[in-house]
Amino acid sequence: MFSKVKGFRDIYGDEIRYWKKFEDIFTEVFNKYDYQEFKLPILEKVELFKRGIGDTTDIVEKEMFVFKDRGGEKLALRPEGTASLVRGYIENKIYTQGLISKYYYYGPMFRRERPQKGRFRQFYQAGVEVFGSNLPIVDAEVIKTMYEILISCGIGDIITLNINSLGCPICRPAYKDKLISFLSSQKDHLCSDCNNRLEKNPLRVLDCKVDRCKSAVSNAPLMVDHLCSDCNEHFKQVKKFLLHFNVNYNINPYMVRGLDYYVRTAFEFNTEFLGASNAVGGGGRYDGLIKTLGGPDIPGIGYAIGADRVVTLMMEKNIIPDLPTKISVIFFNETFEEGFKLLDLLRSQSYTAIYDYEMGSFKNQFKKADRSGSRLAVIIGTDEKEKGVYKVKDLITGNQIEVEQTKLLEEINKIIRK
Ligand code: HAM
Repeated sequence: MFSKVKGFRDIYGDEIRYWKKFEDIFTEVFNKYDYQEFKLPILEKVELFKRGIGDTTDIVEKEMFVFKDRGGEKLALRPEGTASLVRGYIENKIYTQGLISKYYYYGPMFRRERPQKGRFRQFYQAGVEVFGSNLPIVDAEVIKTMYEILISCGIGDIITLNINSLGCPICRPAYKDKLISFLSSQKDHLCSDCNNRLEKNPLRVLDCKVDRCKSAVSNAPLMVDHLCSDCNEHFKQVKKFLLHFNVNYNINPYMVRGLDYYVRTAFEFNTEFLGASNAVGGGGRYDGLIKTLGGPDIPGIGYAIGADRVVTLMMEKNIIPDLPTKISVIFFNETFEEGFKLLDLLRSQSYTAIYDYEMGSFKNQFKKADRSGSRLAVIIGTDEKEKGVYKVKDLITGNQIEVEQTKLLEEINKIIRK
């Protein structure tokens, strides 16, 4: 007997319905907004993430699954999709098309974090990346797509959009100095992680979840008050367009996010229903990243939604996804041909149609139909064949009717809609 690796899990059974619903919803929304799918590799060279996400981030310092393959190359299971997609954008020279490129991706990501509610070592993200525009309307539209997905999943009422501006290479360095000197005065009140971050990644101290750090930074200088005029205007416009799109937001000047590539807009959808892992998804603008990874100086913005977390919330809210109606067809050796025709007819109408492979006695087949979760059983025995009818049994109410063969679909519809 083998057991799963810690932090990894099997997903099956009823839960799959929620995953499918989420997948259908984001696919539809991304299509509507003209995003193309990008299928990314699961393995990349370690260096890509070090350079892309940042050497001093938790992801790179502590959380990546890294190994040497048999050829001695240092590889990592991807902890996120942005660095990979930027690599793909540069490597495939997509930028030579000179257009705005809008991509989405979906699949497993891997981080060796401490497992807890909503936090796994293999988790799934549905994300987007938009390359080629620094206009604030793009930021707002990108955020709107995420909002639409979460609303369509039925969790709109338990999420809050938090936004912030993280400045740019023009205004951030001077702010960073100010922050470091403030944090140095609070050293004794900060947790050991934050003492480490203080010099290396001081902005991260602002969104440390440890209580004493939270109170230590309550009077810290904030990036939003130190933006250069371009960043200030950009942020103002993003907020204006969000309002225009009816997307409500909360400004959280302490939200920094855990990846180093962000500039200007950063955003996160949070919920109180997931304990400490309260981010359902997040993202932001990363105008220097394509250049940092060896490409041209092209701006970008994107986000990723944590699928596991969305599904957990949908399940907790008891948002039951529709099931395709399942129908059991009961037939016998003498009505074999009619039975298969009937199965094909039902499947052509998108019903899930099943039958007993063993083709046992009526009693046996009926018992199996009842246990299968079918909504209806349609019976075609020799009597029915001769009379040109089917018997239709409602497996919820127990009612049984006889219908003319040509009227079957009509009658099934009537019963199901009741
Ligand atoms: P992130 O905030 O690290 O951003 O992850 C996005 C979402 O993935 C989180 O909000 C959360 O819902 C989910 N997530 C992260 N870690 C875990 C975990 N261990 N278990 C379950 N769910 C998790 C990024 O990854 C960026 N690449 C997003 C982005 C795209 N920014 C720009 N473009």
